[in-house]
Amino acid sequence: MTSPQTEITTPLQKLEDARFDQIGIEVWMKRDDLNHPLIQGNKWHKLRLNLDQAAKQGQTQLITFGGAYSNHIAATAAACYERGWSSIGLIRGDELANNHQAWSLTLKQAQRHGMQFEFLDRQTYRLRHHQAWLDALQQRFPNAYLLPEGGSNEFAVAGFEKVINQLNQQCEGWTDLFCAVGTGGSLAGLAKYASPNQTVWGIASLKNADYLKPQIQNWIGSSKQNWRLLTEFHGGGYAKSNSEIMLKTKQFESKFQILLDPIYTAKLVWAFNTLLEQNHFQAGQKIVLYHSGGLQGCTD
Ligand SMILES: Cc1ncc(COP(=O)(O)O)c(C=O)c1O
Repeated sequence: MTSPQTEITTPLQKLEDARFDQIGIEVWMKRDDLNHPLIQGNKWHKLRLNLDQAAKQGQTQLITFGGAYSNHIAATAAACYERGWSSIGLIRGDELANNHQAWSLTLKQAQRHGMQFEFLDRQTYRLRHHQAWLDALQQRFPNAYLLPEGGSNEFAVAGFEKVINQLNQQCEGWTDLFCAVGTGGSLAGLAKYASPNQTVWGIASLKNADYLKPQIQNWIGSSKQNWRLLTEFHGGGYAKSNSEIMLKTKQFESKFQILLDPIYTAKLVWAFNTLLEQNHFQAGQKIVLYHSGGLQGCTD
């Protein structure tokens, strides 16, 4: 696919804080929230090679899955809209079908970009990983390209090679990279292309996320052990928050003039701050926080 975004190198913004100087660490934020107003951050990297693959197969309709607050749903709708393709979102929660007022900004925005919705009850939604159910769906839409929940698959994972290449050029010798985790596709991609002596830390935004680990290792596709999944920073669960997270988000946003989304990057920054306060870091570490976007769901 030829899109100007393919060539964008997003800024690596240095974060200055006396606490970093005291320990002797350096910290940056990789501003992938700036790569596109709608297909932001990790979404762009996860969709890029999937869109190429669909085009190769002559498919100009995408079907994907998500909850009402899924940035992936919004990004898929926008990407299809840009190309004049159609998109269908299978959304968790049949109670939303006749209750437009309860729709999130994310759903409203996806609808503006032409996405058609089918609202599934929670039991049916659970079938999204079952091959027989997916086969039946493909039969209903024979020309559609099916994208899994969160857009995470091997093409999504491969999309992160560009991010790591950019980081290696922008920050020689970086040692640690922190990213937010939903399905784990982004963490897997970053770890896959990072070198074995660099550590990629994933901060799970959802509760009880340990079940993601085998799939993440599978995507990395090797015995590479340069990644960790931290599961204690979910703040109450997916799309939940607490007063401490909100306070840390406000402090970070006003100090560095960088907006965070409440579901993912707010928890990433909270986790990093907590680890800093627990003296987790050592002199010489060069740490990058990955801004994966998600801000399009924060404003109408
Ligand atoms: C802003 C943002 N950051 C991080 C993630 C997590 O990405 P992944 O599902 O690849 O773990 C998402 C989910 O799509 C997201 O919207």
